[in-house]
Amino acid sequence: MRTTNLFLFILLSINVFAQQKTTVITLLPEQAKTVINKNIYGQFAEHLGAGIYGSIWVGKNSPIPNSDGYRSDVLQALKDLQIPVLRWPGGCFADEYHWIDGIGNNRPKIVNNNWGAVVEDNSFGTHEFLNLCEILGCEPYVSGNVGSGTVSELAKWVEYMTSDGDSPMANLRRQNGREKSWKVKYLGIGNESWGCGGNMTSEYYSDQFLQFSTFCRNFGENKLFKIAVGPYDYELDWTETLMKRVGKRMDGLSLHYYTVKGWDGSKGSATQFSPEEYYNTIGKSVEIDDVLQKQTALMDKYDSEKQISLMVDEWGTWFDVEPGTNPGFLFQQNTMRDALVAALSFNIMHKFADRVQMANIAQMVNVLQAMILTKDDKMLLTPTYHVFYMYKVHQNALNIPLNVNCETKTIRERQVPVVSATASQKDGKTHISLINIDLENSQNININLGNIKTVKISGKILTSKNITDHNTFENPNIVQTSDFKDFKLSKNLLSVNLPAKAIVTLELQ
Ligand code: AHR
Repeated sequence: MRTTNLFLFILLSINVFAQQKTTVITLLPEQAKTVINKNIYGQFAEHLGAGIYGSIWVGKNSPIPNSDGYRSDVLQALKDLQIPVLRWPGGCFADEYHWIDGIGNNRPKIVNNNWGAVVEDNSFGTHEFLNLCEILGCEPYVSGNVGSGTVSELAKWVEYMTSDGDSPMANLRRQNGREKSWKVKYLGIGNESWGCGGNMTSEYYSDQFLQFSTFCRNFGENKLFKIAVGPYDYELDWTETLMKRVGKRMDGLSLHYYTVKGWDGSKGSATQFSPEEYYNTIGKSVEIDDVLQKQTALMDKYDSEKQISLMVDEWGTWFDVEPGTNPGFLFQQNTMRDALVAALSFNIMHKFADRVQMANIAQMVNVLQAMILTKDDKMLLTPTYHVFYMYKVHQNALNIPLNVNCETKTIRERQVPVVSATASQKDGKTHISLINIDLENSQNININLGNIKTVKISGKILTSKNITDHNTFENPNIVQTSDFKDFKLSKNLLSVNLPAKAIVTLELQ
Protein backbone atom coordinates (compact mmCIF):
# COMPACT_ATOMS: atom_id res chain seq x y z
CA MET A 1 0.00 0.00 0.00
CA ARG A 2 2.71 2.35 1.07
CA THR A 3 4.69 1.58 -2.07
CA THR A 4 1.62 2.28 -4.22
CA ASN A 5 1.11 5.64 -2.50
CA LEU A 6 4.71 6.56 -3.03
CA PHE A 7 4.45 5.54 -6.68
CA LEU A 8 1.30 7.65 -7.12
CA PHE A 9 2.96 10.61 -5.42
CA ILE A 10 5.94 10.40 -7.77
CA LEU A 11 3.65 10.13 -10.80
CA LEU A 12 1.58 13.14 -9.70
CA SER A 13 4.70 15.17 -8.97
CA ILE A 14 6.02 14.48 -12.46
CA ASN A 15 2.68 15.57 -13.93
CA VAL A 16 2.52 18.74 -11.83
CA PHE A 17 6.09 19.52 -12.79
CA ALA A 18 5.22 19.05 -16.48
CA GLN A 19 2.30 21.50 -16.21
CA GLN A 20 4.45 24.14 -14.59
CA LYS A 21 7.32 24.08 -17.00
CA THR A 22 9.06 27.40 -17.00
CA THR A 23 10.04 29.20 -20.15
CA VAL A 24 13.31 31.08 -20.10
CA ILE A 25 13.82 34.00 -22.45
CA THR A 26 17.15 35.79 -22.77
CA LEU A 27 17.27 39.19 -24.43
CA LEU A 28 20.49 40.01 -26.26
CA PRO A 29 20.39 43.84 -26.60
CA GLU A 30 24.12 44.04 -27.30
CA GLN A 31 23.52 42.09 -30.54
CA ALA A 32 20.75 44.39 -31.81
CA LYS A 33 21.51 45.90 -35.21
CA THR A 34 18.39 45.72 -37.41
CA VAL A 35 15.41 48.05 -37.45
CA ILE A 36 11.96 46.52 -37.96
CA ASN A 37 10.65 48.35 -41.02
CA LYS A 38 7.28 49.85 -40.11
CA ASN A 39 6.00 48.69 -43.50
CA ILE A 40 5.79 45.15 -42.09
CA TYR A 41 2.55 46.48 -40.57
CA GLY A 42 1.16 47.27 -44.04
CA GLN A 43 -2.34 46.62 -45.33
CA PHE A 44 -3.90 45.45 -48.58
CA ALA A 45 -7.27 46.55 -50.00
CA GLU A 46 -8.52 44.92 -53.19
CA HIS A 47 -11.62 45.45 -55.28
CA LEU A 48 -13.07 42.25 -53.86
CA GLY A 49 -16.44 41.75 -52.18
CA ALA A 50 -17.00 44.56 -49.70
CA GLY A 51 -13.27 45.26 -49.40
CA ILE A 52 -13.71 48.80 -50.69
CA TYR A 53 -17.27 49.62 -51.73
CA GLY A 54 -19.63 50.03 -48.77
CA SER A 55 -16.78 49.80 -46.30
CA ILE A 56 -13.98 52.23 -47.07
CA TRP A 57 -15.85 54.07 -49.80
CA VAL A 58 -19.58 54.78 -49.52
CA GLY A 59 -19.71 57.86 -51.72
CA LYS A 60 -20.60 61.39 -50.76
CA ASN A 61 -24.37 60.86 -51.00
CA SER A 62 -24.49 57.85 -48.72
CA PRO A 63 -26.74 57.93 -45.62
CA ILE A 64 -23.77 56.33 -43.79
CA PRO A 65 -21.76 59.11 -42.15
CA ASN A 66 -18.79 59.89 -44.37
CA SER A 67 -16.17 62.43 -45.09
CA ASP A 68 -16.01 63.16 -48.82
CA GLY A 69 -17.24 59.63 -49.54
CA TYR A 70 -14.89 57.82 -47.10
CA ARG A 71 -16.82 56.07 -44.36
CA SER A 72 -16.17 58.01 -41.13
CA ASP A 73 -16.09 55.14 -38.59
CA VAL A 74 -13.78 53.01 -40.75
CA LEU A 75 -11.55 55.99 -41.48
CA GLN A 76 -11.12 56.73 -37.78
CA ALA A 77 -10.34 53.09 -36.94
CA LEU A 78 -7.72 53.02 -39.71
CA LYS A 79 -6.16 56.28 -38.55
CA ASP A 80 -5.82 54.85 -35.04
CA LEU A 81 -3.90 51.90 -36.49
CA GLN A 82 -1.16 54.11 -37.97
CA ILE A 83 -1.01 52.17 -41.19
CA PRO A 84 2.39 52.67 -42.86
CA VAL A 85 1.58 51.44 -46.37
CA LEU A 86 -1.52 50.37 -48.30
CA ARG A 87 -1.49 48.06 -51.34
CA TRP A 88 -4.19 48.52 -54.03
CA PRO A 89 -6.11 47.67 -56.32
CA GLY A 90 -5.26 43.94 -56.17
CA GLY A 91 -4.49 41.06 -55.99
CA CYS A 92 -5.89 39.30 -58.99
CA PHE A 93 -8.05 42.34 -59.72
CA ALA A 94 -4.93 44.39 -60.53
CA ASP A 95 -4.18 42.44 -63.70
CA GLU A 96 -7.61 43.22 -65.17
CA TYR A 97 -7.84 46.81 -63.96
CA HIS A 98 -7.53 49.64 -66.44
CA TRP A 99 -6.82 52.76 -64.45
CA ILE A 100 -8.23 55.06 -67.10
CA ASP A 101 -11.71 53.68 -66.23
CA GLY A 102 -11.36 55.05 -62.69
CA ILE A 103 -10.68 58.75 -63.34
CA GLY A 104 -12.78 61.73 -64.37
CA ASN A 105 -16.53 62.32 -64.35
CA ASN A 106 -17.67 59.69 -66.82
CA ARG A 107 -16.51 56.36 -65.52
CA PRO A 108 -17.64 53.17 -67.24
CA LYS A 109 -19.00 50.26 -65.26
CA ILE A 110 -16.92 47.09 -65.26
CA VAL A 111 -17.42 43.46 -64.33
CA ASN A 112 -15.13 42.15 -61.63
CA ASN A 113 -14.40 38.79 -63.25
CA ASN A 114 -12.12 37.56 -60.51
CA TRP A 115 -14.46 38.15 -57.60
CA GLY A 116 -18.11 37.22 -57.99
CA ALA A 117 -18.56 38.78 -61.47
CA VAL A 118 -20.22 41.78 -59.82
CA VAL A 119 -20.62 45.04 -61.69
CA GLU A 120 -18.79 47.97 -60.20
CA ASP A 121 -19.05 51.62 -61.09
CA ASN A 122 -15.38 52.62 -60.75
CA SER A 123 -16.29 55.39 -58.31
CA PHE A 124 -13.22 54.42 -56.27
CA GLY A 125 -10.22 55.01 -58.54
CA THR A 126 -6.78 56.56 -58.56
CA HIS A 127 -7.76 59.90 -56.98
CA GLU A 128 -9.87 58.25 -54.29
CA PHE A 129 -7.09 55.79 -53.41
CA LEU A 130 -4.21 58.25 -53.36
CA ASN A 131 -6.24 60.82 -51.42
CA LEU A 132 -7.11 58.09 -48.90
CA CYS A 133 -3.41 57.39 -48.42
CA GLU A 134 -2.81 61.09 -47.81
CA ILE A 135 -5.62 61.18 -45.24
CA LEU A 136 -4.23 58.08 -43.48
CA GLY A 137 -0.66 59.35 -43.72
CA CYS A 138 0.51 56.12 -45.35
CA GLU A 139 2.55 55.28 -48.43
CA PRO A 140 0.56 54.05 -51.44
CA TYR A 141 1.63 50.77 -53.01
CA VAL A 142 0.09 50.55 -56.48
CA SER A 143 -0.08 47.19 -58.25
CA GLY A 144 0.17 47.59 -62.01
CA ASN A 145 -1.60 45.58 -64.67
CA VAL A 146 0.88 43.35 -66.50
CA GLY A 147 -1.40 40.39 -67.28
CA SER A 148 -3.94 42.17 -69.51
CA GLY A 149 -2.48 45.67 -69.71
CA THR A 150 0.19 47.22 -71.84
CA VAL A 151 3.58 48.75 -71.13
CA SER A 152 2.31 52.11 -72.32
CA GLU A 153 -0.78 51.93 -70.06
CA LEU A 154 1.32 51.38 -66.94
CA ALA A 155 3.88 54.00 -67.98
CA LYS A 156 1.08 56.53 -68.42
CA TRP A 157 -0.44 55.67 -65.04
CA VAL A 158 2.90 56.45 -63.38
CA GLU A 159 3.06 59.73 -65.30
CA TYR A 160 -0.54 60.58 -64.34
CA MET A 161 0.14 60.01 -60.66
CA THR A 162 3.63 61.41 -60.24
CA SER A 163 4.55 63.93 -62.96
CA ASP A 164 4.41 67.67 -62.34
CA GLY A 165 5.58 68.53 -65.83
CA ASP A 166 3.66 69.95 -68.75
CA SER A 167 2.94 66.44 -69.98
CA PRO A 168 -0.25 64.87 -71.38
CA MET A 169 -0.96 62.69 -68.37
CA ALA A 170 -0.10 65.34 -65.78
CA ASN A 171 -2.41 67.74 -67.61
CA LEU A 172 -5.18 65.14 -67.66
CA ARG A 173 -4.81 64.80 -63.89
CA ARG A 174 -5.04 68.58 -63.54
CA GLN A 175 -8.21 68.57 -65.65
CA ASN A 176 -9.59 66.03 -63.19
CA GLY A 177 -9.04 68.38 -60.29
CA ARG A 178 -5.65 67.48 -58.87
CA GLU A 179 -2.99 70.07 -59.54
CA LYS A 180 -0.07 68.60 -57.64
CA SER A 181 1.25 65.11 -58.28
CA TRP A 182 1.07 62.49 -55.55
CA LYS A 183 4.12 60.76 -54.16
CA VAL A 184 4.00 57.11 -55.16
CA LYS A 185 7.01 55.09 -54.15
CA TYR A 186 5.94 51.46 -54.28
CA LEU A 187 4.99 50.06 -57.67
CA GLY A 188 4.14 46.39 -58.15
CA ILE A 189 4.83 45.11 -61.65
CA GLY A 190 1.91 42.66 -61.81
CA ASN A 191 0.52 40.26 -59.23
CA GLU A 192 0.81 36.47 -59.03
CA SER A 193 1.91 36.34 -62.66
CA TRP A 194 2.39 32.58 -62.24
CA GLY A 195 -1.40 32.29 -61.69
CA CYS A 196 -4.30 34.75 -61.96
CA GLY A 197 -1.90 37.41 -63.25
CA GLY A 198 -1.28 35.60 -66.56
CA ASN A 199 -0.07 32.03 -65.92
CA MET A 200 3.44 32.96 -67.00
CA THR A 201 6.64 31.04 -66.56
CA SER A 202 9.30 32.63 -64.37
CA GLU A 203 11.51 33.22 -67.43
CA TYR A 204 8.73 34.94 -69.37
CA TYR A 205 7.72 37.04 -66.36
CA SER A 206 11.34 38.14 -65.79
CA ASP A 207 11.39 39.56 -69.31
CA GLN A 208 7.99 41.19 -68.76
CA PHE A 209 9.26 42.77 -65.55
CA LEU A 210 12.28 44.23 -67.35
CA GLN A 211 10.19 45.55 -70.21
CA PHE A 212 7.40 47.09 -68.10
CA SER A 213 9.72 48.55 -65.49
CA THR A 214 11.98 50.18 -68.08
CA PHE A 215 9.16 52.54 -69.07
CA CYS A 216 7.97 53.35 -65.54
CA ARG A 217 9.95 56.53 -65.05
CA ASN A 218 10.94 58.60 -62.07
CA PHE A 219 9.35 62.04 -62.44
CA GLY A 220 10.83 64.93 -60.47
CA GLU A 221 11.61 63.90 -56.92
CA ASN A 222 9.46 60.79 -57.11
CA LYS A 223 11.65 57.69 -57.02
CA LEU A 224 9.88 54.43 -57.74
CA PHE A 225 10.63 51.30 -55.76
CA LYS A 226 9.79 48.54 -58.22
CA ILE A 227 8.49 45.28 -56.83
CA ALA A 228 8.59 42.11 -58.90
CA VAL A 229 6.09 39.30 -58.58
CA GLY A 230 7.64 36.68 -56.35
CA PRO A 231 6.84 33.16 -55.31
CA TYR A 232 4.30 31.71 -52.93
CA ASP A 233 5.41 29.52 -50.04
CA TYR A 234 8.35 27.31 -51.01
CA GLU A 235 8.41 28.08 -54.76
CA LEU A 236 12.18 28.46 -54.79
CA ASP A 237 12.56 27.99 -58.55
CA TRP A 238 10.61 31.20 -59.21
CA THR A 239 12.81 33.11 -56.78
CA GLU A 240 15.99 31.71 -58.29
CA THR A 241 15.00 32.68 -61.85
CA LEU A 242 14.10 36.22 -60.77
CA MET A 243 17.31 36.63 -58.79
CA LYS A 244 19.36 35.40 -61.75
CA ARG A 245 17.58 37.16 -64.62
CA VAL A 246 16.38 40.38 -62.99
CA GLY A 247 18.65 40.71 -59.97
CA LYS A 248 19.19 44.24 -58.73
CA ARG A 249 17.02 45.73 -61.45
CA MET A 250 14.17 45.00 -59.05
CA ASP A 251 14.08 46.77 -55.68
CA GLY A 252 11.85 44.21 -54.06
CA LEU A 253 10.53 40.72 -54.64
CA SER A 254 7.12 39.80 -53.31
CA LEU A 255 6.15 36.64 -51.44
CA HIS A 256 2.64 35.37 -50.75
CA TYR A 257 2.04 33.13 -47.78
CA TYR A 258 -1.46 32.15 -46.66
CA THR A 259 -2.35 30.20 -43.52
CA VAL A 260 -4.73 27.86 -45.30
CA LYS A 261 -5.61 24.20 -44.82
CA GLY A 262 -5.36 23.49 -48.55
CA TRP A 263 -6.50 24.97 -51.85
CA ASP A 264 -8.91 22.16 -52.76
CA GLY A 265 -12.09 21.47 -50.84
CA SER A 266 -13.15 23.01 -47.56
CA LYS A 267 -10.74 25.37 -45.85
CA GLY A 268 -12.59 24.94 -42.56
CA SER A 269 -14.90 27.27 -40.68
CA ALA A 270 -13.46 30.53 -39.40
CA THR A 271 -15.40 30.25 -36.14
CA GLN A 272 -16.18 26.59 -35.50
CA PHE A 273 -13.10 24.45 -35.11
CA SER A 274 -11.72 21.75 -32.84
CA PRO A 275 -8.53 22.05 -30.76
CA GLU A 276 -6.86 19.81 -33.37
CA GLU A 277 -7.87 22.16 -36.18
CA TYR A 278 -6.69 25.09 -34.08
CA TYR A 279 -3.22 23.59 -33.61
CA ASN A 280 -3.01 22.73 -37.30
CA THR A 281 -3.73 26.34 -38.20
CA ILE A 282 -1.08 27.51 -35.76
CA GLY A 283 1.36 24.97 -37.20
CA LYS A 284 0.73 26.19 -40.74
CA SER A 285 1.10 29.83 -39.71
CA VAL A 286 4.48 29.34 -38.03
CA GLU A 287 5.75 27.46 -41.08
CA ILE A 288 6.32 30.91 -42.57
CA ASP A 289 9.51 30.81 -40.47
CA ASP A 290 10.83 27.90 -42.54
CA VAL A 291 9.64 29.49 -45.79
CA LEU A 292 11.40 32.76 -44.94
CA GLN A 293 14.58 30.93 -43.97
CA LYS A 294 14.68 29.11 -47.30
CA GLN A 295 13.63 32.07 -49.46
CA THR A 296 16.01 34.52 -47.77
CA ALA A 297 18.90 32.02 -47.89
CA LEU A 298 18.39 31.73 -51.64
CA MET A 299 18.24 35.51 -52.04
CA ASP A 300 21.46 35.78 -49.98
CA LYS A 301 23.18 33.52 -52.50
CA TYR A 302 22.67 36.13 -55.24
CA ASP A 303 22.51 39.27 -53.12
CA SER A 304 24.68 38.94 -50.02
CA GLU A 305 24.39 42.68 -49.32
CA LYS A 306 20.63 42.37 -49.04
CA GLN A 307 19.90 45.14 -51.51
CA ILE A 308 16.76 43.45 -52.80
CA SER A 309 13.96 43.51 -50.25
CA LEU A 310 11.49 40.73 -49.65
CA MET A 311 7.92 42.01 -49.43
CA VAL A 312 5.38 39.59 -47.97
CA ASP A 313 2.65 41.53 -49.74
CA GLU A 314 -0.11 39.00 -49.09
CA TRP A 315 -0.38 36.98 -45.90
CA GLY A 316 -3.00 35.86 -43.39
CA THR A 317 -5.62 33.22 -42.70
CA TRP A 318 -7.95 31.89 -45.37
CA PHE A 319 -11.04 29.97 -44.23
CA ASP A 320 -14.42 29.14 -45.77
CA VAL A 321 -16.65 32.17 -46.30
CA GLU A 322 -19.34 32.82 -43.70
CA PRO A 323 -22.41 30.69 -44.44
CA GLY A 324 -24.88 32.49 -46.68
CA THR A 325 -22.35 34.95 -48.10
CA ASN A 326 -21.14 35.17 -51.70
CA PRO A 327 -18.27 32.65 -52.13
CA GLY A 328 -16.53 35.17 -54.40
CA PHE A 329 -16.42 37.79 -51.65
CA LEU A 330 -14.08 35.93 -49.25
CA PHE A 331 -15.89 37.31 -46.21
CA GLN A 332 -14.79 35.44 -43.08
CA GLN A 333 -15.15 36.07 -39.35
CA ASN A 334 -12.09 36.54 -37.18
CA THR A 335 -11.49 34.83 -33.82
CA MET A 336 -8.85 34.76 -31.13
CA ARG A 337 -7.16 32.11 -33.32
CA ASP A 338 -6.66 34.74 -36.04
CA ALA A 339 -5.18 37.10 -33.47
CA LEU A 340 -2.62 34.44 -32.49
CA VAL A 341 -1.75 33.83 -36.15
CA ALA A 342 -1.20 37.56 -36.70
CA ALA A 343 1.00 37.95 -33.63
CA LEU A 344 3.04 34.81 -34.40
CA SER A 345 3.57 36.03 -37.97
CA PHE A 346 4.90 39.38 -36.71
CA ASN A 347 7.23 37.72 -34.20
CA ILE A 348 8.64 35.63 -37.04
CA MET A 349 8.90 38.45 -39.58
CA HIS A 350 10.79 40.59 -37.05
CA LYS A 351 13.52 37.91 -37.04
CA PHE A 352 13.98 38.49 -40.78
CA ALA A 353 13.93 42.28 -40.52
CA ASP A 354 17.22 42.54 -42.43
CA ARG A 355 15.49 41.23 -45.59
CA VAL A 356 11.73 41.51 -45.03
CA GLN A 357 10.99 45.19 -45.58
CA MET A 358 7.24 45.08 -46.08
CA ALA A 359 4.23 42.88 -45.41
CA ASN A 360 0.59 43.49 -46.31
CA ILE A 361 -2.07 41.48 -44.54
CA ALA A 362 -4.86 40.19 -46.74
CA GLN A 363 -6.98 42.17 -46.36
CA MET A 364 -7.87 45.40 -44.57
CA VAL A 365 -11.70 45.39 -44.43
CA ASN A 366 -14.30 42.62 -44.94
CA VAL A 367 -11.99 40.25 -46.85
CA LEU A 368 -10.08 37.24 -45.45
CA GLN A 369 -8.18 38.10 -42.21
CA ALA A 370 -9.63 41.58 -41.93
CA MET A 371 -8.98 44.27 -39.35
CA ILE A 372 -12.49 45.63 -39.68
CA LEU A 373 -15.86 44.13 -40.61
CA THR A 374 -18.85 46.19 -41.69
CA LYS A 375 -22.52 45.44 -42.22
CA ASP A 376 -24.68 48.30 -43.48
CA ASP A 377 -23.95 51.12 -41.03
CA LYS A 378 -22.43 48.86 -38.36
CA MET A 379 -18.71 48.29 -37.88
CA LEU A 380 -16.60 46.07 -35.63
CA LEU A 381 -12.91 45.71 -34.90
CA THR A 382 -11.63 42.15 -35.12
CA PRO A 383 -9.16 40.42 -32.77
CA THR A 384 -6.58 40.88 -35.57
CA TYR A 385 -7.13 44.65 -35.42
CA HIS A 386 -6.24 44.55 -31.73
CA VAL A 387 -2.96 42.75 -32.49
CA PHE A 388 -1.99 45.39 -35.05
CA TYR A 389 -2.86 48.05 -32.49
CA MET A 390 -0.83 46.41 -29.68
CA TYR A 391 2.13 45.80 -31.98
CA LYS A 392 2.32 49.37 -33.34
CA VAL A 393 5.12 49.95 -30.85
CA HIS A 394 7.43 47.71 -32.88
CA GLN A 395 7.16 49.85 -36.01
CA ASN A 396 10.61 51.25 -36.91
CA ALA A 397 12.03 49.99 -33.61
CA LEU A 398 15.39 48.27 -33.16
CA ASN A 399 14.88 44.53 -33.12
CA ILE A 400 16.43 42.87 -30.06
CA PRO A 401 17.54 39.31 -30.74
CA LEU A 402 16.46 36.82 -28.10
CA ASN A 403 16.54 33.15 -27.19
CA VAL A 404 13.43 31.30 -26.08
CA ASN A 405 13.78 28.06 -24.20
CA CYS A 406 10.37 26.48 -23.75
CA GLU A 407 8.35 23.31 -24.19
CA THR A 408 7.24 22.37 -27.70
CA LYS A 409 4.21 20.71 -29.24
CA THR A 410 4.31 18.37 -32.20
CA ILE A 411 2.17 19.91 -34.90
CA ARG A 412 2.25 18.92 -38.58
CA GLU A 413 5.31 16.77 -37.81
CA ARG A 414 7.25 19.75 -36.50
CA GLN A 415 8.23 20.84 -33.02
CA VAL A 416 6.42 24.12 -32.44
CA PRO A 417 7.49 26.18 -29.39
CA VAL A 418 4.57 26.90 -27.08
CA VAL A 419 5.88 30.39 -26.36
CA SER A 420 6.88 32.93 -28.97
CA ALA A 421 8.53 36.24 -28.15
CA THR A 422 9.80 39.37 -29.82
CA ALA A 423 11.40 42.51 -28.41
CA SER A 424 12.36 45.91 -29.73
CA GLN A 425 13.60 49.30 -28.57
CA LYS A 426 12.56 52.79 -29.59
CA ASP A 427 12.59 56.21 -27.95
CA GLY A 428 14.18 54.89 -24.74
CA LYS A 429 11.51 52.23 -24.28
CA THR A 430 11.72 48.46 -24.66
CA HIS A 431 8.69 46.47 -25.79
CA ILE A 432 8.40 42.74 -25.34
CA SER A 433 5.54 40.82 -26.97
CA LEU A 434 4.82 37.30 -25.72
CA ILE A 435 2.47 34.67 -27.11
CA ASN A 436 1.26 31.47 -25.51
CA ILE A 437 -0.33 29.14 -28.08
CA ASP A 438 -1.34 26.52 -25.52
CA LEU A 439 -5.13 26.25 -25.20
CA GLU A 440 -5.05 24.95 -21.62
CA ASN A 441 -1.92 25.84 -19.71
CA SER A 442 -0.52 29.15 -18.64
CA GLN A 443 3.25 29.64 -18.84
CA ASN A 444 5.66 30.86 -16.22
CA ILE A 445 8.14 32.96 -18.12
CA ASN A 446 11.44 34.21 -16.77
CA ILE A 447 12.94 36.92 -18.92
CA ASN A 448 16.58 37.78 -18.51
CA LEU A 449 16.71 41.45 -19.54
CA GLY A 450 20.48 41.61 -19.93
CA ASN A 451 21.73 45.19 -19.65
CA ILE A 452 18.29 46.80 -20.11
CA LYS A 453 17.67 49.12 -17.15
CA THR A 454 14.02 49.19 -16.10
CA VAL A 455 12.14 51.22 -13.52
CA LYS A 456 8.60 51.14 -14.83
CA ILE A 457 6.61 48.38 -16.58
CA SER A 458 3.10 48.33 -17.97
CA GLY A 459 1.31 45.73 -20.07
CA LYS A 460 -1.64 44.95 -22.30
CA ILE A 461 -3.16 41.53 -22.93
CA LEU A 462 -5.38 40.11 -25.64
CA THR A 463 -7.09 36.85 -24.72
CA SER A 464 -10.57 35.37 -24.46
CA LYS A 465 -12.45 32.63 -22.70
CA ASN A 466 -12.80 30.48 -25.80
CA ILE A 467 -10.43 30.32 -28.72
CA THR A 468 -13.44 30.55 -31.05
CA ASP A 469 -14.57 33.86 -29.52
CA HIS A 470 -15.08 36.67 -31.99
CA ASN A 471 -16.65 40.09 -32.11
CA THR A 472 -20.09 40.38 -33.65
CA PHE A 473 -22.16 43.34 -34.77
CA GLU A 474 -24.42 42.69 -31.77
CA ASN A 475 -21.51 42.18 -29.32
CA PRO A 476 -18.51 44.01 -30.79
CA ASN A 477 -16.30 43.85 -27.67
CA ILE A 478 -16.13 40.16 -26.81
CA VAL A 479 -12.44 40.04 -27.70
CA GLN A 480 -10.57 43.17 -26.73
CA THR A 481 -7.38 44.20 -24.97
CA SER A 482 -7.14 44.94 -21.27
CA ASP A 483 -4.44 45.93 -18.79
CA PHE A 484 -2.01 43.19 -17.83
CA LYS A 485 -0.28 43.19 -14.46
CA ASP A 486 0.78 39.59 -13.84
CA PHE A 487 4.53 40.24 -13.81
CA LYS A 488 7.28 40.87 -11.27
CA LEU A 489 10.66 42.48 -11.70
CA SER A 490 13.60 41.46 -9.57
CA LYS A 491 16.88 43.08 -10.62
CA ASN A 492 17.18 42.24 -14.32
CA LEU A 493 14.89 39.22 -14.18
CA LEU A 494 11.29 39.74 -15.24
CA SER A 495 8.83 36.97 -14.32
CA VAL A 496 5.59 36.82 -16.24
CA ASN A 497 2.62 34.55 -15.82
CA LEU A 498 1.23 34.28 -19.34
CA PRO A 499 -2.31 32.83 -19.53
CA ALA A 500 -3.30 30.21 -22.08
CA LYS A 501 -4.04 31.43 -25.66
CA ALA A 502 -2.89 34.94 -24.92
CA ILE A 503 -0.83 37.74 -26.40
CA VAL A 504 0.87 40.25 -24.13
CA THR A 505 2.88 43.36 -24.89
CA LEU A 506 4.98 44.81 -22.08
CA GLU A 507 6.44 48.30 -22.08
CA LEU A 508 9.63 48.76 -20.08
CA GLN A 509 11.18 52.13 -19.38
O1 AHR B 1 -6.19 38.08 -51.37
C1 AHR B 1 -7.01 37.37 -52.23
C2 AHR B 1 -6.28 36.87 -53.46
O2 AHR B 1 -5.30 35.95 -53.10
C3 AHR B 1 -5.51 37.90 -54.24
O3 AHR B 1 -6.32 38.60 -55.13
C4 AHR B 1 -4.51 37.08 -54.98
O4 AHR B 1 -3.34 37.79 -55.26
C5 AHR B 1 -4.27 35.89 -54.06
O5 AHR B 1 -4.34 34.71 -54.73
